[in-house]
Amino acid sequence: MSAVLVKGARLVGGDPVDLLLDDGVVAEVGLGLSRAGAEIVSADGLVALPGLVDLHTHLREPGREDAETVETGTAAAALGGFTAVHAMANTDPVADTAGVVEQVWRLGVQAGHCDVAPVGAVTVGLRGEQMAELGSMADSAARVRVFSDDGKCVSDASLMRRAMEYVKAFDGVIAQHAQEPRLTEGAQMNEGINSSKLGLTGWPAVAEEAIIARDCILAGHVGGRLHVCHVSTAGSVELIRWAKDKGWDVTAEVTPHHLLLTDDLAATYDPVYKVNPPLRTQTDVDALRQGLADGTIDCVATDHAPHALEDKESEWGAASPGMTGLETALSVVAKAMVETGQLTWRQVAERMSHTPARIGRPDGHGRPLEVGQPANLCLVDPRAQWTVDARAMATRSRNTPYQGDTLPARVVATFLRGRPTVLDGKPA
Ligand code: DOR
Ligand code: ZN
Repeated sequence: MSAVLVKGARLVGGDPVDLLLDDGVVAEVGLGLSRAGAEIVSADGLVALPGLVDLHTHLREPGREDAETVETGTAAAALGGFTAVHAMANTDPVADTAGVVEQVWRLGVQAGHCDVAPVGAVTVGLRGEQMAELGSMADSAARVRVFSDDGKCVSDASLMRRAMEYVKAFDGVIAQHAQEPRLTEGAQMNEGINSSKLGLTGWPAVAEEAIIARDCILAGHVGGRLHVCHVSTAGSVELIRWAKDKGWDVTAEVTPHHLLLTDDLAATYDPVYKVNPPLRTQTDVDALRQGLADGTIDCVATDHAPHALEDKESEWGAASPGMTGLETALSVVAKAMVETGQLTWRQVAERMSHTPARIGRPDGHGRPLEVGQPANLCLVDPRAQWTVDARAMATRSRNTPYQGDTLPARVVATFLRGRPTVLDGKPA
């Protein structure tokens, strides 16, 4: 593989420099670099960010290859600037054994678009009854460190406590989908004025907050690591702030869609806006943005949830919850957080690369763009405006809530250990 010389990129939004990528690492950083035989990538006006890391991606393989595969999902990830994604365990079969997580990890290596770190299920079959073999998944070739029943909540407090205790032995983390099941039976959208008007069963904020409060206290008690998936309410932000003040090892993520969209969209009855947890109110959106800006919420995670047409294009009540997100994540964060002056590009790098990598621990990701570090990075055009077209995306599914919208900022190139996976905005 030849060396790549990136000319004139604004390093995490700062001053322009040249970056020489050679032998999988950042070999030189400086002005006026040259190297005979290197492939030149002109990055005038582009921002160089460390390769993005997603803690929450649904790749659907094995089991729902009609919605997504490791190949198509990781191709989408690369186009979105990601160099590592954590693949959620709610596949069919469930990723609750060393065999399944190794299969997913291997498919990621074969596809070669970005690194795949499989998430292991906390409980057998996601049934919430019996702990899965967390240790054997950790010891497997996939080296699992993040465990989650995402899609379902680990609602049994005793199981949750034991899981957090157990993974301490290998520095693992339990990523909780916080949804009290009894409080959300039959829920279709956020509980509030809009659900009353539309006559849809509500999913109350308290169902998320009750689990987060409980799990933060449990994490403090056992001295274990808790990560809260897709925080969606103002009250959840307050609880996480409180847990961090206590010094407990609690981290949290927010999705791009919860930073931008509100439950007013449910009035369209278009199931593309049905997602779990549901879109909330503008007050929640404002609190989530504030929480992400001040560091209460540690990072952004996509919850990329592709669904086949027949699962999504039905009436609201029957549709599966979820939205695609890998190819729009950075643009939505730019719109919600950078254009509003709430985050700088340097802070975006922290919240979409360094911090998620610190939480999920994928090997060699989320490192600073310095000499000797793995050459995982992306180049972003911060002035670009582009129109979302689901049919032009790499993901196999069409359920983007931004179809036809114009979004700011575009990923132009992505490099995985110095090898381009995306160039000129297209698969390399
Ligand atoms: O909207 C969602 N979709 N939320 C989840 O928790 C699961 C996900 C999925 O797997 O489709
Ligand atoms: Zn979830």
